[in-house]
Order: sequence, then structure tokens, then C-alpha cells
Amino acid sequence: MDTYEKFVQDLDRYLRLDLTGYKRPQMERRINTLMRNLGMRDYDHFVESMRKDKAIFERFLDYMTINVSEFFRNPTQWDVLENKIVPELIKKTPNLKVWSAGCSTGEEPYTLSMLLQERFPAGRHSILATDFDEHVLAKAKAGLYAKKNTGGIPAPYYKKYFDESADGVQAKDSLKKIITFRHQNLLRDRFPDNFDLILCRNVVIYFTEEIKRVLYTNFFKALRPGGVLFTGSTEQIMGAAEIGFHSVAVFFYGKPDK
Ligand SMILES: C[S@@+](CC[C@H](N)C(=O)[O-])C[C@H]1O[C@@H](n2cnc3c(N)ncnc32)[C@H](O)[C@@H]1O
Repeated sequence: MDTYEKFVQDLDRYLRLDLTGYKRPQMERRINTLMRNLGMRDYDHFVESMRKDKAIFERFLDYMTINVSEFFRNPTQWDVLENKIVPELIKKTPNLKVWSAGCSTGEEPYTLSMLLQERFPAGRHSILATDFDEHVLAKAKAGLYAKKNTGGIPAPYYKKYFDESADGVQAKDSLKKIITFRHQNLLRDRFPDNFDLILCRNVVIYFTEEIKRVLYTNFFKALRPGGVLFTGSTEQIMGAAEIGFHSVAVFFYGKPDK
């Protein structure tokens, strides 16, 4: 085992961050630059510092852009979801079962909750929101955001679904009630199934092509016939047709009806 492999193992063991399956050259380059900037001597010193000081660990996660999220991230695609994809899905199933895979601090499932409750209020929708990082999941469940990070939320939704307090901006229970937050590692754990819609956006950026292929095949299986996978704005699926997907719109992949 070389020093990088040991670093990855230590991250998993001590900080519950699993970087296996990530493209090594990109990760290594970024990690080494950050270590230089922070004055870390070597990987062991870095792991030790992150274990002692949560702020350094947070800095690491932010720098790797591993946890960055936004409400209504890439609004044009949310328009397509709202005006084209969901109306089609609703025709087949009035109560949508949705999975936000790699939900980070919760902006994505809360965005979905607003959209479904506001625009498609007749259905009894449910959202499963998963991530493998317990730190971000705790933040997602809490639903407390800095005001500067809530700019993407349309004013009427903001007013209806959030409370302002001295601590920040708090998602209301009415927004949380259709969401279940759960720990799930996309590279290790069983996939839940029977979804009408799956979002996996900005999660696979550092994954190897081989891992992506396995992942997209698993998402295909996790969809109901007629279901749709929504990917991030730079994530086109290579060999989508071979997996069985057809394109419904840019960054939206459909599973054929039965
Ligand atoms: C950049 S955030 C994306 C958040 C949100 N989907 C969005 O687009 O704004 C990537 C998230 O994927 C999660 N993630 C990365 N690898 C994962 C894995 N193997 N299993 C589950 N979640 C993973 C990270 O913990 C992080 O919270």
C-alpha cells in the first residue's frame, strides 16, 4: 500500500469519508495543493489535523467541492423538470416516488419538495434523500442555512417554506414532511428501487468511467418502467443506450415503458 492508499484508508476509518472509486490523479493533485496551502507535512499530519480540528476537515470537503450544493442549482434544468418531465410522469403515476442520491446538505431534496408541493399538490409524493457523509446528512436534516445561500429560492416559496431566525434560515416542517433522509453509499450499499424519478447530480464527477457505468446501470434498475434519471449539468452518460436509457431532454434519461 502506498502513502495515498493509506491516506484514503485513514479518511474512511477516522473521518468516515470514502474516496475509493474516485479518480486518483485528480484527487491526488487537489489534495496535494491543499496540503501545501495549509502547511501540512504529509498525509499522516493532514489526517491528524482533520481529526483534531473539524474546521480543517470542512475546509478539505469544501475545497474538493465534494459537498457544495445550491437551491434550484442550474435553474434551466429545473424548468425542464417542472414543465416537461414531472407533468409526463404524473400522467402515469399521480404519487411520485423520488430519490435524491448524493443529496449533500439538503438543498436538492428541499428544492424538489417545494416544486412538487407547489406545482403538483394533488399527489402524495415522497422523496428519499441519501448521502454517504454523515456530516452533510445531519445538516440536511437540520435544514438550517446561511441567508446568503438561499438566493436561488423564488420569493413566494421562501416566504412560505422558510423561517428567518438569528441562526439563519430554517426550512419548515411542511417542507421536510415528504422527505426521508438516510445514509447510503452508492458504491457499497444496496440500491432502493421502484422510483419514478432519480436525481444524481454533481456526485460522479470524480468517479472513474468504470464506476460510473456500474452506477448508471444500477440507477436504471432502480427506476420503474417509464421513470427518469436527472443528471448534473456536465454529466452526459457514455453508452446510455447500451444500458437501456433513451434521451428525454438534455441531462434527462428515460427508462422505456413496459
Ligand atoms: C457536490 S455534492 C452534490 C449535491 C447535490 N446533488 C447537488 O447537485 O447540488 C456531492 C455529494 O455526493 C456525495 N457522495 C459522493 N460519493 C458518494 C457515494 N459513494 N455515495 C453516496 N454519496 C456520495 C457527497 O458526500 C456529496 O454530498
